[in-house]
Formats: sequence, structure tokens, C-alpha cells
Amino acid sequence: TGFTSKGIAHSSFKWIYSLICLAVNGFLCLLFLPNQSSAEPFVPQWEDNSKETLLLVWVHPFGARINIPDCWERLGMRGCKVTDDRSRYTQADAVLIHHRDICCGGTHLPPKPRPPGQKWIWFNFESPTHAPQLWKYEGIYNLTLSYREDSDVALPYGCLIQNALVDKVPFGPSRSDLHRPHLVAWVVSNWSESHARVAFYKLLKQFYFVIHSSTYGLRLGEYHYRDGTVIVDLIKQYRFYLAFENSQHTDYITEKLWNAVRGGAVPVVLGPSRKNYERFLPPEAFIHVDDFPTAQDLAQYLLKVKDSPSLIEKHLSWRKNYSLYISSWCTDHYCTACMAAKHRKGKVDVVRNLNEWFLS
Ligand SMILES: *[C@@H]1O[C@H](CO)[C@@H](O)[C@H](O)[C@H]1NC(C)=O
Ligand SMILES: *[C@@H]1O[C@H](CO)[C@@H](O)[C@H](O)[C@H]1NC(C)=O
Ligand SMILES: *[C@@H]1O[C@H](CO)[C@@H](O)[C@H](O)[C@H]1NC(C)=O
Repeated sequence: TGFTSKGIAHSSFKWIYSLICLAVNGFLCLLFLPNQSSAEPFVPQWEDNSKETLLLVWVHPFGARINIPDCWERLGMRGCKVTDDRSRYTQADAVLIHHRDICCGGTHLPPKPRPPGQKWIWFNFESPTHAPQLWKYEGIYNLTLSYREDSDVALPYGCLIQNALVDKVPFGPSRSDLHRPHLVAWVVSNWSESHARVAFYKLLKQFYFVIHSSTYGLRLGEYHYRDGTVIVDLIKQYRFYLAFENSQHTDYITEKLWNAVRGGAVPVVLGPSRKNYERFLPPEAFIHVDDFPTAQDLAQYLLKVKDSPSLIEKHLSWRKNYSLYISSWCTDHYCTACMAAKHRKGKVDVVRNLNEWFLS
């Protein structure tokens, strides 16, 4: 492939970030998990005491200011400083640039000349459908930070951690996971007739009024989508949750899936292929719309599961062996970007074919 910085992504660089989150089928959740059970902060073994790396956040995503995290306190990452003070541009080892704010009128790229040795990190958590004008930004970036596994710095929206690898209590299934009053919930932030998920929803409800009548109508603000607690509390009442992505792309599996998992519902997914989901979750942990020839078959299966303790068990028992990590927006993103810059200091990285890669 023409994506040269991929070489880094699959070498020691990635490995270093994967201390803990060796999830299903080798998918690496590239995070340090703070050791919550002890008072001592978690100390990565590869910590060094050389000069602190400075990451400049050029623009907070969508212009919404986020408190600058202390990466040591929050994640046990040492030697990394994050700032959003643009007057420090010339001193910054790396600049984190959020695509949607650059492409679409939020702000401009940092000024030229670029300070020598400085890395520009492409930062994007939208799907390709919602990340326009990538072609304009070819040949300027040094590293990529996105949800895609083959990014230089890959940060999925969430990931499962095998309990065998960490000293953690399993997150289910609990009694309330096994007994649920309602059948199916769906919460959608952007209802658009052009989305595959809306077409699918309409098909599904046409066959089974029970799905329709249990679908919950509620108006939520942006805050609720970011935080998720309100949605998760809602999901706890339901057996299934429709985790339908707004568009279908490689690795584009968002908080919709992880909210379902948090809420103890079985996610019914529409997004990338089943195979792609299986890099994040055990095969029986979700129901894929592609598993069924028609929406009617899917609806029939959901009703069958509802009345079958053994099928419910089948879809939930995997929970005994895992715990869940949800990426913290944007603490994990800022700190991981900073650690990447620290790790690649003094080396040259060039992102080629950004457009071609991200659309693939
Ligand atoms: C909602 O979806 C439409 C169609 O894909 C898209 O054009 C629009 O930008 C989306 N709105 C938001 C707020 O994401
Ligand atoms: C959980 O892990 C154990 C030990 O690896 C394994 O024997 C068991 O089958 C797993 N259970 C489920 C439900 O995946
Ligand atoms: C960063 O990328 C630019 C543009 O491709 C390149 O000229 C520069 O050498 C790279 N710098 C580093 C430090 O990787």
C-alpha cells in the first residue's frame, strides 16, 4: 500500500501502546489503563526522564473547549505536556489538528514555516462520509490518529479487555441483564432518509409492531451523546439495542455499540462487516443485520431470543470473561497523541495517500 507510515503502525510503536488492551482476536486497544484498584498511579515501564514532549492542540474538536488533561495524573503517561496555547506553536514537538475544524471553516492550518522537527498529527473520529475534502491535505501530515486500527495512533471508541489479562471483575451478565421488560430500543441523533439505518429501521418495524411500540422517543442534546449515561440507563430496560452506524466504513464502530454493551443489551449492528466487528467483540456478542436474508428474518430471530433463556445466555455469557474500556474524549486522544510524538521524536514520518487510505 502507499501508506508509508503504516510501517510504524505495525511495529514496536503500536506494541508499546498496547500494554493492556489485548482484546478479541488480536485487536489492539491502544491505551494505558490507569490501575484503578491501587492508589499508586500506573507507571509504564518504558518511561524515560528525558525532556518533556509538548503537544499543541491546534483546535478542540468542533470548537468546544475541553479541559487540558494532565496525562500523568489521568493515564500514568509521563513526560508529556498538552497545551492549547497557540503562542507555543514554535516550541511544540507536535501539533494535533482536528480535520473537521480545518476542512470546513472552523479554523486554518498552522502558519508556515513549520518549526523543524515538528510533527503534524491528523486527528479525525468521523467516518469518511463525514470527513470531507481530505485530498486538500495530502503531504502535510506526519502521523494519523483515528478509530481505524491501521492508523499510526489507533484509538477505538471502546474495547474489551480479557479479564485473564488484568485483575478485573467481569461486567456481567447480571440478573437484570437476563431479565428485561422491553424488547428493542434505538436512539438516533441524526435522522436522515439517506442513511441505510433509517431504511432498515423502517423495514424492521413494518414486520413487528412490537419493535415499533417499544422504540423509545426522546430528545437529547449533544451532551447526552458524549456522556452516554442517559442512553445507557435507557438501554438497561431493553433486551436489544439497535447500534446502527450513520455510514458503513472499515472499523467505524462507535459509542452506539459500546453503549449497548454498557447497558447489558445485545447489540443489533449495522455498520462494517461481521468480520470487522469480530475484531472488537466475540462473535456471539452481537447480532449483525447481514446474518439474516431479510429484515423479517431478523425480527423473527429477535422474538425467538426474547423467549429463550438459552439464546439469551448464548448472547450474554461472554460478558463473564471481559471488562469494557470506553475511550475518554478527548483525554485519551490528546495524551496518546502526545505519547506518539514523544516516541517518534527525532524520526521522520510522512503520511502519504491520506485520502486513498481513509476511504479504503
Ligand atoms: C446528518 O446526516 C446527513 C446525511 O448524511 C449529513 O449530510 C449531515 O451532515 C448529518 N448531520 C450531522 C449533524 O451530522
Ligand atoms: C471464559 O474463559 C474461560 C477460560 O479461558 C473459558 O473456558 C470459557 O469458555 C470462557 N467462557 C465464555 C462464556 O466465553
Ligand atoms: C513531517 O511531514 C512533512 C511533510 O510531509 C515532512 O516534510 C517533514 O519532514 C516531516 N517531519 C517529521 C519530523 O516527521
